[in-house]
Amino acid sequence: MRAVKIQSVKTEAPKVKTLCFEDKLCSTAKAGQFIMVWVPGVDEIPLSLASVHGKASTVTVKEVGEATQMLNRMKQGDVIGVRGPFGNHFKVIGKEALVIGGGTGTAPLMMLITELVDAHVKTTVIEGAKTCDELLFMNQLNRLSTSVNVKVHFATEDGSYGIKGVATDAAEKTLSAKQFDAIYACGSEGMTRAVYSLAEKHKVPLQASLERIMLCAMGICGSCVIGKYRVCKDGPIFDDAQLKDVANELGRFKRGFSGEKIAIS
Ligand SMILES: Cc1cc2nc3c(=O)[nH]c(=O)nc-3n(C[C@H](O)[C@H](O)[C@H](O)COP(=O)(O)OP(=O)(O)OC[C@H]3O[C@@H](n4cnc5c(N)ncnc54)[C@H](O)[C@@H]3O)c2cc1C
Ligand code: FES
Repeated sequence: MRAVKIQSVKTEAPKVKTLCFEDKLCSTAKAGQFIMVWVPGVDEIPLSLASVHGKASTVTVKEVGEATQMLNRMKQGDVIGVRGPFGNHFKVIGKEALVIGGGTGTAPLMMLITELVDAHVKTTVIEGAKTCDELLFMNQLNRLSTSVNVKVHFATEDGSYGIKGVATDAAEKTLSAKQFDAIYACGSEGMTRAVYSLAEKHKVPLQASLERIMLCAMGICGSCVIGKYRVCKDGPIFDDAQLKDVANELGRFKRGFSGEKIAIS
């Protein structure tokens, strides 16, 4: 565990902030990897790295409970602990990519999009949220869409911005109109399940990032298990063959803090 000082805090949306800090090891991370962030006096939680520029790294945090609320109240100069980076990472393949993000799931995809642009892969990004207010990284994505290789579509469930509907509705239309070499996704497990079905239907290789409760992040405690996999060690990025192995659980059951199976409504 390394203690790091928060360098800056940016509000992205109501209840979502991006925290920037400097850490030598985090600056070696690849797109899709995550770190464990210790919030002093509260808890230690897994968060994806949203960007790495030189020595500076960022995490984008949505308030859902005690640790994330406390983290988002922190200010420049406050100290957090970091472990990692952990897990595997997205692998850039092919020449035409579809990237699908839901909510804060878009965070690890921002690093991936930079890698795709650098590798001259033609990239279509679909970001979905409930409302316009909850869309993240709009300025960055709109700026990227001025590049010849990047197209960006936003989808909101209430139709307040972009296409009306969920991200996977927009993805279905995009996949029906064009052939892609790879799909990359990160969002709720329900969204990932829908993307998995789309990838199967359109026969496009998929890499999707999963989120489960994590305690050790090193493959020891078993709290992050899905089927035969430990998300912290075997993932968090899973390909379509691995997702097929866990299709009975994906988006249907999660595990609670005591390891109990809970149906996802
Ligand atoms: C690999 C990985 C990467 C993640 N990246 C991000 C990120 O970039 N930004 C972000 O905002 N969140 C991310 N999360 C989710 C984040 O870890 C949880 O929101 C956080 O641990 C909740 O802690 P809390 O104390 O605020 O809430 P709690 O009170 O602990 O929980 C609030 C709710 O969130 C659920 N929850 C708790 N922990 C997790 C978890 N690990 N995964 C999924 N649901 C959880 C609980 O079941 C409960 O319903 C990631 C999770 C994983 C596993
Ligand atoms: S978090 Fe302990 S095994 Fe994955």
